[in-house]
Amino acid sequence: MMNRFAPLLAHAETVKDRHILDLFAADPERARDFAAEAGPFLFDYSKTNIDAAGMGLLLALADQAGVAERRAAMFSGQKINETENRAVLHTAWRSPAESILVDGHDVMPPLRATLARMAEFANALREGRYRGQGGAITDVVNIGIGGSDLGPAMAALACTAFANGPQLHFVSNVDGAHIHDTLAPLNPETTLVIVASKTFTTIETMTNAETARVWMADVVKNPATQFAAISSAVDKTAAFGIPPERVFGFEDWVGGRYSVWSPIGLSLMIGIGPEAFARFQAGAAAMDAHFLSAPFSANLPVLLALVGLWHNQVLGHATRAVLPYEQRLARLPAYLQQLEMESNGKRVSMDGADLPYHSGPVVWGEPGTNGQHAFYQLIHQGTRVVPCEFIVTARGLEPDLEHQHLLLVANCLAQSEALLRGRALEEATAIMRKKGLEGAELERQARHRVFPGNRPSTTLLFDQLTPETLGGLIALYEHRVFVEGVILGINSFDQWGVELGKELALALAPVLEGKADGAAKDGSTRALAERIRELRGL
Ligand code: F6P
Repeated sequence: MMNRFAPLLAHAETVKDRHILDLFAADPERARDFAAEAGPFLFDYSKTNIDAAGMGLLLALADQAGVAERRAAMFSGQKINETENRAVLHTAWRSPAESILVDGHDVMPPLRATLARMAEFANALREGRYRGQGGAITDVVNIGIGGSDLGPAMAALACTAFANGPQLHFVSNVDGAHIHDTLAPLNPETTLVIVASKTFTTIETMTNAETARVWMADVVKNPATQFAAISSAVDKTAAFGIPPERVFGFEDWVGGRYSVWSPIGLSLMIGIGPEAFARFQAGAAAMDAHFLSAPFSANLPVLLALVGLWHNQVLGHATRAVLPYEQRLARLPAYLQQLEMESNGKRVSMDGADLPYHSGPVVWGEPGTNGQHAFYQLIHQGTRVVPCEFIVTARGLEPDLEHQHLLLVANCLAQSEALLRGRALEEATAIMRKKGLEGAELERQARHRVFPGNRPSTTLLFDQLTPETLGGLIALYEHRVFVEGVILGINSFDQWGVELGKELALALAPVLEGKADGAAKDGSTRALAERIRELRGL
């Protein structure tokens, strides 16, 4: 397979040592020229080493890779998830389209009916018409993992200011501590448990669901009445004992990590109400419309993808930090880790050939300003370059605390400015000289205070974090991952890489219990299993 990035790699050789500040000096309009807008979002990528020639090559790459054709195929329900022979239509759940055909069937009528059932259930619960044994529902526990947890958990936190329903809780880890600590303060008589699993076979979720059922059965006469299920395997939900009126199904053409728009978002809908949930979907639909219609040079998902590929593939930076200056986006980096790394962490192309370049980057991050007091040291002065993606809102949602939000925003801009500008040795020396240092000690101390600068970052700015802007933000990242995947030539919609560990864990459980022989295991695994058996008194 040919390396698609070859022309860009050649271009990068000629520009990689250039300072980004020189690009600003050469082009007074750079901040305008290397930025684009979509609805409420402004994406500024001027603080990168991309110039007009580089952008031309990146845009040509998107054309050559067939992004437009693949995009049309995705939105029209073609089976672009080729290793699972599935369409990729999470966008249908937020689509205003009258009809979308998959295998000749219109998927929209049943989908609209499910959304209406969800809204009816959410309203009944919020208004106290659907009740637990002890009265109105006060708490909702969503049990799921991966996409069946991260999406609603991330979004529920992001929408805290809009929460006006029962308290939401999220249990994902099979570690008993997670469900124990979550359920301990709750009253089973006024709690609804939602079992969220696309496959309804995931061991973590089914184990936690069983634990929750036992917890509830201690107090509630008919625990099934306080359970709901979300799955694309509705036959299995009946086997678990959840009655069909509280089962919300979806088709397998919605990937787990793309499923927050589907019934997997039920907990969020209960927490913020169906109307706010519809605004969340509408924000995403607006981003879909932009992605479908804007020319690539002004298309936010395409631009985010191209800038990402420039850093990851062309300049070779292995990681990407996502740094939201919004405390309520604290779970966004974790959400994006699954979205990006489960989608684009693949080592073979669609046809099974080895990739002649790396797969997608390692994605990580924390909200600012907390990260500043933790890992930004390395970002500023470490020897490796970490491209940073700042996400920031102009205004907070607490009018009385706008002075705090202003400080937050100032910190965000200061970080990208510091990364760009750095601090030269002369400046650091002058500062230390003013403090009274001289000679060799002055030189030594000054060197510790040098910032190399010329470190790339992008800034995504919007007004406020609302359900609409959150929807747009998530859709923006979904499509960015899609475009990166198309250009890498991989299938972004399967996740075979998670299977091996699941199989081995199943086989190891009996070894740890002493019921099976671990002789075939490697020496380390055998020794660890033996020590664990000893510690557990087996
Ligand atoms: O193990 C990975 C994975 O399949 C994810 O892709 C998915 O989001 C998660 O597990 C949960 O799967 P399910 O919703 O089927 O329980």
